[in-house]
Amino acid sequence: MKSLLSGIKPTGHIHIGNYLGTVKNWVELQDKYNCHFFLADLHALTIDISSEELKQQSFDLAVDLLSLGIDPKKSIFFKQSDVVGHAELAWIFNCLTPVSELERMTQFKDESAKQPENVNAGLLTYPALQAADILLYLADNVPVGQDQIQHLELTRVVARKFNKRYQEFFPEVKPVLSPTPKVMALNNPIKKMSKSMGPASYVAIRDDRKTVVKKIKKAVTNEQGIKNLLELYSYFGDEKKHKEMLKDHKAGKLMNVKLKEELTTSIINFLEPVQKKIKDYEKNPAKVQKILDDGAKKAQKIATKNMAEIRKIVGIR
Ligand code: ADP
Ligand code: TRP
Repeated sequence: MKSLLSGIKPTGHIHIGNYLGTVKNWVELQDKYNCHFFLADLHALTIDISSEELKQQSFDLAVDLLSLGIDPKKSIFFKQSDVVGHAELAWIFNCLTPVSELERMTQFKDESAKQPENVNAGLLTYPALQAADILLYLADNVPVGQDQIQHLELTRVVARKFNKRYQEFFPEVKPVLSPTPKVMALNNPIKKMSKSMGPASYVAIRDDRKTVVKKIKKAVTNEQGIKNLLELYSYFGDEKKHKEMLKDHKAGKLMNVKLKEELTTSIINFLEPVQKKIKDYEKNPAKVQKILDDGAKKAQKIATKNMAEIRKIVGIR
């Protein structure tokens, strides 16, 4: 079976953009690939985050992912920092990555602009750690949203450099995109739905009924906005009704109120069972911890084996 890996930073609750852009793919691909999914807590250290926040948000993210359908029986599910090897390989990759390539990264520029008082070296070398996350497991398929494509291209550059300097060892990494690799913000549909665009831009999977109603009601309904809402409805709603709405939209007869009501109901119907699972996991933090501990053990086995080979190849053993 082919190997697949992806991670997500514990920097806030998952929203429907993250879900449709990538996590839905993770859940669906669990039967087809040898899957590794992790909480990228080392990457989260590149932003200002207290230790309490990091701990809590890592736990919450684990709960979110399990409730959305990540199945630890099918996939290796773990926390990045629990596995020795990510940071070591990142250092080796740092020494192969041109600074000019790192400075070109859109995420580096965006994050630096967001926190001008904290443009730390970790923000710059972030993609070297991401390349290490992937290549430590020799994974070649990486499901992500569109904004991560650039980092995967850099991962390929680093792998090629390593293979050329030492020997053919790392595979070519391929992005796995969902049909919705870029869900747009509800309040500004020319921008990507994102935590950094603020809560009005997204529906979080933990939002209660009242919040969902309010956010969809306020969603911008210019041409791009309607397109985005219709697209969202095609994933959460009823296929037949979606076709009818598309027809009405083409004929200029689609009522925004109707689209918004139907979309709200469909999202709430999707969220209700997920939120029930979230509540159940929250009542049992020891169970969540055990899942992550077991996952880390499995991941560590692979990482230890591959790191031993990498050390030999590089000449540090
Ligand atoms: P955010 O921008 O909300 O902080 P992250 O950067 O934590 O989201 O992204 C987590 C994952 O979700 C990544 O794989 C990313 O590509 C994907 N993703 C984020 N926002 C969107 C979006 N609006 N549409 C599709 N995928 C997205
Ligand atoms: N950089 C990714 C994001 O911002 C998170 C991430 C870290 C990741 N390591 C990864 C994604 C490895 C895929 C593979 O969302």
